[in-house]
Amino acid sequence: MAERIALFATTARGTEDLLADELKELGARRIRQDRGGVRFMASLDEALMVCLWSRIAMRILYPLGTFEAHGAEGLYEAAASVPWEEHLTPTTTFAVDATLKDSEHSHSGFVALKVKDAIVDRMRTKVGTRPDVNTKNPDVSVVAHLSRETLSLSLDLCGDALNRRGYRVRPTVAPLKETLAAAVLRAAHYTGEEALVDPMCGSGTLLIEGGMMARRRAPGLNRDFAVERWPVIGPRAKELLVDLRADARRNERKVEVPIWGFDKDPEALEAAQRNVQAARLSEEIILAEADATDLPHLPAASGLLLTNPPYGDRLTGSGGQKGMKSFYYKLGESLRVPGWRVWVLSGNPAFESAFHTRPSARREMWNGPIECTLLGYRAAGSSHLDENSEAPLRAPKQPANVAPVRPQHEGEEDS
Ligand SMILES: C[S@@+](CC[C@H](N)C(=O)[O-])C[C@H]1O[C@@H](n2cnc3c(N)ncnc32)[C@H](O)[C@@H]1O
Repeated sequence: MAERIALFATTARGTEDLLADELKELGARRIRQDRGGVRFMASLDEALMVCLWSRIAMRILYPLGTFEAHGAEGLYEAAASVPWEEHLTPTTTFAVDATLKDSEHSHSGFVALKVKDAIVDRMRTKVGTRPDVNTKNPDVSVVAHLSRETLSLSLDLCGDALNRRGYRVRPTVAPLKETLAAAVLRAAHYTGEEALVDPMCGSGTLLIEGGMMARRRAPGLNRDFAVERWPVIGPRAKELLVDLRADARRNERKVEVPIWGFDKDPEALEAAQRNVQAARLSEEIILAEADATDLPHLPAASGLLLTNPPYGDRLTGSGGQKGMKSFYYKLGESLRVPGWRVWVLSGNPAFESAFHTRPSARREMWNGPIECTLLGYRAAGSSHLDENSEAPLRAPKQPANVAPVRPQHEGEEDS
């Protein structure tokens, strides 16, 4: 990969433009947004920069080809036409991960099996022996996507998806994907230079991603990438990554802004604390039990209030939905703190009107299968009403009535 090659970075739907901007900053060329991803050109070192530094991409794929594939036989023939002997040796392990869209086949496992058979047979014919399959930690991850009768085959440079940062040791109900949280922070123009508060922090994903941005920490610093084990370019990739990781470590900096999280559920806070600790951000992120409808004193005169409130039962018109509306209405009053910008990612269509403030920015993005709306509200001054407001601004309650959760130190044992 001495020259630039075409790559495809996948991302949550609705975040393609955010990923395209990020890739541009990371040195990618000829960037083109597509549905669910971004195409770009990169040399090996540029591609590795993206693997190490992209906060938003989920996978970085090296496309091998797109084929018409009719029936089981067509799948096999298409996959067998790829020169796998250029990407595998008899001692490299591999695995095939398949996804389907509007396909005649109903099981992705069947498609993966056909592709695997074609790879094995081609390797036997071309090099006399076959490589082993390792589904847990393969050297080469083959990604097959069948859309109707079009089969796309790629190699995944990362292996494990990039959202697996390694800090989610204690999940809670409905945590955001790490990569989506990073996209939300970018959409909200967070750069790590201002105070950040998530008043309904759940497992702490927005805070941890914000903390890593403020620390200028590469999200992929503590993991390896499948491309390091590829037969031809693996050794060179490994070598380049030694330098890229060393640079990244050197350039980390002290966090100078407060990053606080509240939740009313002690179990969620406990999970957040464990995750924060696993992310090595215990010194930077303060957590406390509090009700977002009665917000405690905030840690600065201005900053970003960013949150992902509970969605409730989104689809029924029942009493539950009525309860959510009145909860959102109360949030509309409590979160409008003078000097603080407010951004909310909501999966409940009732949120926007119940919050009773006109947003200055809005966009749709997908949290897995759930279509969400990200709404941005401008900060307003303390002495006047926000021009967009239908409700008066409130001053934060003074003084703080919460006891912060004691940060555990990195090496400290769980009790
Ligand atoms: C959708 S989850 C947030 C998930 C989070 N973004 C994450 O990645 O883990 C909503 C959170 O809001 C919390 N919550 C609900 N009502 C609250 C309230 N009145 N005050 C504070 N937290 C609240 C819940 O306990 C839950 O942890």
